Amino acid sequence: MSRLVCVSNRVSLPRKTAAAGGLAVGVHAAIQASKGLWFGWGGETTDGEPDDPDLHVRGGVTFATIDLRASDVEQYYNGFANSVLWPLFHYLIRDFGYTRERQAAYENVNRLFAQKLLPLLTDDDVIWVHDYHLIPLASRLRELNVRCPVGFFLHIPFPDLQMLRVLPTYAELLRDFTSYDVIGFQTEGDLASFQSGMAHLFGPEALRADRRITVGDRTFLADVFPIGVDVEGIQAEASAARGSDVVRRMADSLGGRKLMIGVDRLDYSKGLVQRFTAYQQFLEAFPDNGGHITYLQIAPHSRSDVRAYADIRRALEQEAGRTNGRFADADWTPIRYLNRNYPHETLMGFLRAANVGIVTPVRDGMNLVAKEFVASQDETDPGVLILSTLAGAACELSGAQQVNPYDTLAVAHAIQVALSMTLPERRERFSSMMGILKKNDINSWSKRFSSALEAVNP
Ligand code: F6P
Repeated sequence: MSRLVCVSNRVSLPRKTAAAGGLAVGVHAAIQASKGLWFGWGGETTDGEPDDPDLHVRGGVTFATIDLRASDVEQYYNGFANSVLWPLFHYLIRDFGYTRERQAAYENVNRLFAQKLLPLLTDDDVIWVHDYHLIPLASRLRELNVRCPVGFFLHIPFPDLQMLRVLPTYAELLRDFTSYDVIGFQTEGDLASFQSGMAHLFGPEALRADRRITVGDRTFLADVFPIGVDVEGIQAEASAARGSDVVRRMADSLGGRKLMIGVDRLDYSKGLVQRFTAYQQFLEAFPDNGGHITYLQIAPHSRSDVRAYADIRRALEQEAGRTNGRFADADWTPIRYLNRNYPHETLMGFLRAANVGIVTPVRDGMNLVAKEFVASQDETDPGVLILSTLAGAACELSGAQQVNPYDTLAVAHAIQVALSMTLPERRERFSSMMGILKKNDINSWSKRFSSALEAVNP
């Protein structure tokens, strides 16, 4: 078995108190098995030239982190990654802010990643690159004569060709994909969009029947690898957290009211404004629920230096205030809106305590909170998941109540249906979803991708 080298924009060393996001959990599970290396930005900035990577070994995994110049964080991370590719790939181009400076910083940081990674590589490594920050990385590594198999997994959606063409450099971006050996997408829809981009640029004959694509003398695999969650780990965390002080205090504070929960990074793609509106419409349309439900929305701040994120933050503070101002009573707060983060175990305990999990992004690659909500439930009395049809997870979780997040009245009705769903129906929906989650958990996801990479003949 080769050593697995994962590369992602951000590398977080495992900490007990930090809530690990989807990418972090998935990558860690993948590398642990091969005692591999995880390379990326450590989250710090420098005024001068970035030094060679800092190395830390934890539980057999080597973490190699570099600093980035503050100007690159602005132009590459806040700029090209999160103000150009992020809105474009999520079909939310109102926030699209392409500039040539941002494009140049994206190229430079990808070149820097390749240069800093090179000395750490050995000939029999396989390299797995994660996410939209690093699409050109394989091309830069190939220029440095790296010949080992290199794979890429896109955690976010891949846009349709007509959307992608909004990016002035879309052809270069598509061409950079061809330096990889294996490319993974979350859903069949994302793969189809990618294939149409490839066919547009290289002709329909580039697409082969076995999901391989041939461009010049290179043939690579582009396939669907929907990311999963650590079902057993979540179950253990959720039941352990039940006894924890913080989860018990939260549950006691409900005073017997039903709980609806949302957990999202504070991001405009998560559909939070529409969700708050839907909740107001629910309280209006079904007034008997007044005083009998608490909606807990946990939304840790994210990418705060990007303007669109500051705007959404302001909008949500106003909406939460409006909801409470209008519907609250002396002994009831309809919505508890929290911007703080919790350890993963606590979050799983909160999810388990909820009657309804609400996950209504206006576009999402997968959405692991949807899967975590299901995995965390008590099988004898499971809660109901309300899930956006525009999240990748909707392709697998047909047992969820699926809604279009823009149809806020339909979401309001879904909340009412969820609250009154019978136990047999809740159990049936839960067990159908659990079957899917267990079959494609985080380990089988990373094994499937790593095996595809191992099978490549360099
Ligand atoms: O899933 C998209 C993603 O950008 C991941 O790559 C990343 O781990 C997560 O969201 C959090 O984003 P950020 O590193 O910008 O805080």
